[in-house]
Amino acid sequence: MTVLVPTMGALHKGHQALIKRARSMSKEVVVSIFVNPLQFENTDDLRNYPRSPERDIQLATLAGATEVWMPEYEEIYPAEIKKLSAGPLGALYEGQSRPDHFDGVVTVVNRLFEIVKPESAVFGEKDFQQLAIIKAMKSKVEIIGVPTVREFDGLALSSRNVRLSEQGRVSANVIQRALAAAHLAPSVVIAQEIIDSTLATETGFKKDYAAIIDEDSFEIARDETRNKRAIIAGWIDGVRLIDNMKMGEGR
Ligand code: PAF
Repeated sequence: MTVLVPTMGALHKGHQALIKRARSMSKEVVVSIFVNPLQFENTDDLRNYPRSPERDIQLATLAGATEVWMPEYEEIYPAEIKKLSAGPLGALYEGQSRPDHFDGVVTVVNRLFEIVKPESAVFGEKDFQQLAIIKAMKSKVEIIGVPTVREFDGLALSSRNVRLSEQGRVSANVIQRALAAAHLAPSVVIAQEIIDSTLATETGFKKDYAAIIDEDSFEIARDETRNKRAIIAGWIDGVRLIDNMKMGEGR
C-alpha cells in the first residue's frame, strides 16, 4: 500500500514526523514536494516561500520516504485548471484572511491523490483547519492527522519560522504561552480572556484571529462543547504564524 505525505518542501522535523508515521504504516512512502501557486493569495509570500530541494531529499529519505516526488507545474496542472471548492469551512478563519487559499489546497490535494493513488495520506494537525477541510473532501484516501511538533519553547515548527528575525523568534513564543495558559481554564470565556490578554502583552504580534471553536463545526465553542480547540493566527515581522491546541482538559 502507498502512503502519501504531501508537502511544499522546506522540510523540518514536523514533516519528518509525518513521514515516520507514514513509514510505520507502510513500506511505500511517497513524499511530494510542490509549492502550489493556487493556494497563495500573495505573490510575495509565494516568491519568498523557502526552497531547499537537496536538503529536503536527505531529510525525507532519512525519515523513511521511499520516493521523493517533485512534480513540475505542468504535471499537476496540465491543461485548464478546474478549481475545486473547499465549501463553507473554507471561508472561515484562515479562509477569511486568505480568500481562495483552501480552494487551492483541495484542488492540489485532489490532483496529488489522482496521480499517486495512495491508500492513505498524512497531514499535520498544525494546519488544523486544512486537515478538517481535507477530511471533508470525502475522498477514498484515508486521512491521518499527526500532532504538531514543537521547538524547545513550544513554538510550532513551520517552514516560515526561518523568516523570523532574532527578536521576532523570541516574540513568537507568545502564541504558545497563550495556548498553554488557557488550556486548563475553567470556562470558554475565561480561556478566551487569557488568550487575548496574553497575546496583547507582545507588541510584536499582530493578531489576525484567536478563537475557541468546536473542532467539528468550527463554530464558537460553548462550555458544554466536548471537542474544544483554540486556534490562533497572526503576524510577526510580517511572517504569518498559526497554531492551535485542544482546550478544556481543566474541567
Ligand atoms: O500543508 C501543506 O504543506 C500544503 O497546504 C499541502 C497540503 C502540501 C498542499 O499544497
